[in-house]
Amino acid sequence: MKLIPLWPLMEMSRDLRAQGINVAHGAYNMNSLVHIKAAIDVAQELNSPLIAQGSEGANGWYSGRPDFRNATLDEKMKGARKIAADVSAYAAQASVPVVLHLDHGVDPDFAIAAIEEGYTSVMYDGSSLPLEQNIANTRRVVEAAHKKGASVEGEIGGLAGAEEGIEHETAKYTDPDEAERYVAETGVDALAISYGTSHGEFKGKVNLKLEIAGEVYGRIRKNGYQCELVSHGSSSLPEHLLSGLVEQIRAAGYADQFKRPDPGVPVEMLMKASRYGISKINVDADIRLATTMYVWEYFNKNADARKDPVTGKMWELMIAEPSKSRPRYYMTPIQQQMIAEDRSNPHVSGILDCIAEGVKLVLRERIQQLGGAGRAGEVEVRGIEDMAREYAAA
Ligand code: 13P
Repeated sequence: MKLIPLWPLMEMSRDLRAQGINVAHGAYNMNSLVHIKAAIDVAQELNSPLIAQGSEGANGWYSGRPDFRNATLDEKMKGARKIAADVSAYAAQASVPVVLHLDHGVDPDFAIAAIEEGYTSVMYDGSSLPLEQNIANTRRVVEAAHKKGASVEGEIGGLAGAEEGIEHETAKYTDPDEAERYVAETGVDALAISYGTSHGEFKGKVNLKLEIAGEVYGRIRKNGYQCELVSHGSSSLPEHLLSGLVEQIRAAGYADQFKRPDPGVPVEMLMKASRYGISKINVDADIRLATTMYVWEYFNKNADARKDPVTGKMWELMIAEPSKSRPRYYMTPIQQQMIAEDRSNPHVSGILDCIAEGVKLVLRERIQQLGGAGRAGEVEVRGIEDMAREYAAA
């Protein structure tokens, strides 16, 4: 199937909610062809729609630059082109609808360029800017995106935690007045709110302020806007994943240097939030930790991989900072092989399998918990060109 924009999935959740059925769509962060194939395989297996997303950093990484945070606009565009080519080629063979969404585009020019490169949906995140500036930039992105038929997600308020390499110590909860004005003046299709979730694996005690989602969504519905809410920082970091990871690190002998992540947002809480307008749920840390668990296990079972000229360099990075469970950090030595799925080195191939297993573990669990399984056929599929006509007519 051809890639579709985000809106048809948001609309499906909205319409089901009106019938008292809560279905939210997980949006899963992708960093390689292996991630993409594994995610689409699981979506097919469960007959679920899928949102595959790449952050601005992931696009830099996908361009082949190890210091991906310093990627230029041209390099990020190159990465975007490659991700879009990989996702669309693999999704074309699938029978379920797949959305390719840009996560946390902080540069409006890049958000617009990502659509040109093949993304069907983009987040423009101007939440750290003054409201007027955020509105002006978002509006520019929406105008360009809707002309093409792509969907746009914006953000009001700010989450605590690490986001695109920048650490935010405290959250700024979404102000419903600002959110209402932002949606009215920008025409975004989806709005990320800050209501108690936080990015990353150290979320502390999670206490969702559902009243914020309820108030914002109530105003959106009252005014008749076509907009659904998004929950960022929504990894659940379930106990079985955390204890599995700790067990592997202990077996390797590095438990003392490992800071155990906090449990994340319980899925029951997320499902409760979906009653208040949350239709898209962002999950990244779960995938990173699941992948990392399998990678430690691989090195535990294959001691010679620690000495391999290529994977040995990865091992050195892992043991130098066991708490840095960020695959884009410790996988730098296999970045090229990861991007192109080059399996010529058997240990690299084994590590790529760990990525696939990590993605599959999380998506199988989360898609079922969020209610997406078996619902692929309920999405009213429209391609980007169809949506361009809908926006023009509206
Ligand atoms: P987590 O850090 O909880 O996985 O959330 C990811 C996210 O919100 C990406 O935008």
